[in-house]
Amino acid sequence: MADTSHRHGKRVTRITEVTHPLDPLTEGEISQGRSIIEAAGLITDTVRFPAVLPVEPDKKATFAWKPGKPFDRSILYVLLDTATGISHEVVVSVTDEKIVSQTKVKSDEHPYGQPPYLFEEYERVEALVKAHPEWQAAIARRGITNVDDIFCAPLAPGYFGHEDEIGRRMIRSLTFLRDTPDDSPWAHPVEGLLVTIDLTKGEVVRVQDEGDVPTPTVSGNYDVGTVGPARESLRPLEITQPEGPSFTVNGSLVEWENWKFRVSFNSREGLVLNQVTFTDKGEDRSVLYRASVPEMVVPYGDTSINRYWISYFDAGEYLLGKNANPLVLGCDCLGVIHYFDGVAADDHGHPMVVGQAVCMHEEDYGVLWKHTDLAGNPDSRRSRRFVISYFATIGNYDYGFFWYLYLDGTIQVEAKATGVVFNGAGVPGSHDPHAHEIAPGLFAPVHQHLFSARLDVAVDGLDNSVHEVEVVGVPTGPENPHGNAFTYTVNTLQTEGGRLANNPALRTWHVTSGHRTNYTGASTQYQLIPQGYPVLMAQPESSVAKRAAFATQHLWVTKYEPNEMWPAGMYPNQHAGGAGLPEYVAGGDSIVNEDIVLWHQFGPTHIPRTEDWPVMPVDYSGFLFKPFGFFDVNPALNLPDGANSSCTCCGSGRCGTDACTCNHEH
Ligand code: NI
Repeated sequence: MADTSHRHGKRVTRITEVTHPLDPLTEGEISQGRSIIEAAGLITDTVRFPAVLPVEPDKKATFAWKPGKPFDRSILYVLLDTATGISHEVVVSVTDEKIVSQTKVKSDEHPYGQPPYLFEEYERVEALVKAHPEWQAAIARRGITNVDDIFCAPLAPGYFGHEDEIGRRMIRSLTFLRDTPDDSPWAHPVEGLLVTIDLTKGEVVRVQDEGDVPTPTVSGNYDVGTVGPARESLRPLEITQPEGPSFTVNGSLVEWENWKFRVSFNSREGLVLNQVTFTDKGEDRSVLYRASVPEMVVPYGDTSINRYWISYFDAGEYLLGKNANPLVLGCDCLGVIHYFDGVAADDHGHPMVVGQAVCMHEEDYGVLWKHTDLAGNPDSRRSRRFVISYFATIGNYDYGFFWYLYLDGTIQVEAKATGVVFNGAGVPGSHDPHAHEIAPGLFAPVHQHLFSARLDVAVDGLDNSVHEVEVVGVPTGPENPHGNAFTYTVNTLQTEGGRLANNPALRTWHVTSGHRTNYTGASTQYQLIPQGYPVLMAQPESSVAKRAAFATQHLWVTKYEPNEMWPAGMYPNQHAGGAGLPEYVAGGDSIVNEDIVLWHQFGPTHIPRTEDWPVMPVDYSGFLFKPFGFFDVNPALNLPDGANSSCTCCGSGRCGTDACTCNHEH
């Protein structure tokens, strides 16, 4: 079977015993902490757990930690009393077996903010909507009779200062028709019908019913039965590693070639990489202390009643890790794979395992370096990368988060946006300045997917600075007599704040060590290379610009503070704005030779295409974090010739295989 080879040698790690301060939370720890909360009498029939997160251990102590030294393990439980809408943050030390703190969440005070949604709230939405007479009347007026198959999407409402919404736990619902229970609902949006719900009261607050655009009937299904039989022209392409993979896994510690790092996972950020080092001449040199994509926002650029309010914060409102795909049900990676199970928590605060959430494997990546010398002798080495990835599905969209480590010291982060484009309905053939007709009558609004990567850098230690580097032309004159010259400028960022990319000037941000130099005497450094796609398009006075202020800059640099983890704040759901990065930089601390954190925003601005329907080919975005004077020379010089053993032809081309670039001379 062609599809069994990639399952061969499958290994799965689930951390059950904690041996390092940065190990992910275990099922046992989550249960233990919950028991302590229960014993304190804090769990009633109506209490739920919208979030359960690790408390990060002290950074300096962890950076210097050696096996055998004690460390504390603490967990933050967010408890929501669904009867009152009041939430508390309860921190439990499972090491000391006690509650450390208990704080009320200020959801009822400006600037508000609600904990993420519970899974059970999605089900309540559909029942509340379908039971409401105004909604029933709106459906009947449209001549719709198959009410059972209707899908009522549960959607984060944003913040617009409506008296009957602020400070309350609200959700909105848009209505989608289905021909059958397994029909794709995203093809059949009911335009002009919006329902707003108070989840605590358990009642519909408002039904807005405007306009009578017919619901599109085009199919959104992409199963074999709809699209026809699969093509038979592709021959098998198999990845085999007869001697096994080149990486090892020991608890949360992964080692691959010169790279070492620790895998972690939590219900909000999903995948986290800790203590990423590169071994250089026998020394493990630090590059990153902690790295993740802790927030993203998907703002829509549409004025319609159905969508002007849409700006989903998929981590802070819905939780990426809790919605991670269990790859035990089907994996997308090729090769010899090692999985990590993800441990999150369910609505009741009990551990919830996402089976095989994180996928790790090696990938061939073409030529790493090559030269044919003056005598005609070719020399080349193949590139290989180590892939650590997970996918989360939030409603219609699916997001893959891929971290790539390369043999030459490069780190690449790639977000893969796929799934089903979110549509409204319109008159076929009409023009809409804020949407594109991607199938007859289906108008997909322009929107953005803006991801925020938090890079807690540690380039050769914790004393780091950031320099903004640009190329610049030199005016013709005494400094440039022939007009050909150009140069580069280096400006050190002095204090906390935000910066934009500048692609025509190739603006990059170099993170330098405060004390270490390479053999030319320059500070060792890594450079962040942005794609420089648009930042938030919404106007500065808009609600989303205040709530997603993080997305108005490509880069923020902050001095490390233990509680500064969330680009849009801890509770972006229904928050009035200003939380997260604007607060984190407000002190204007010095960031020169300090323990600093880089926050990089990236992601596509999407004008949907017909080709994005009915399921969207992956839209890739990301950035590079690349050594720049970190190593004295190319760190991949010692790769073996012909490292790809499946490559059997030899440089001379004797064997007549045309697609082969190896030079394995005998
Ligand atoms: Ni999109």
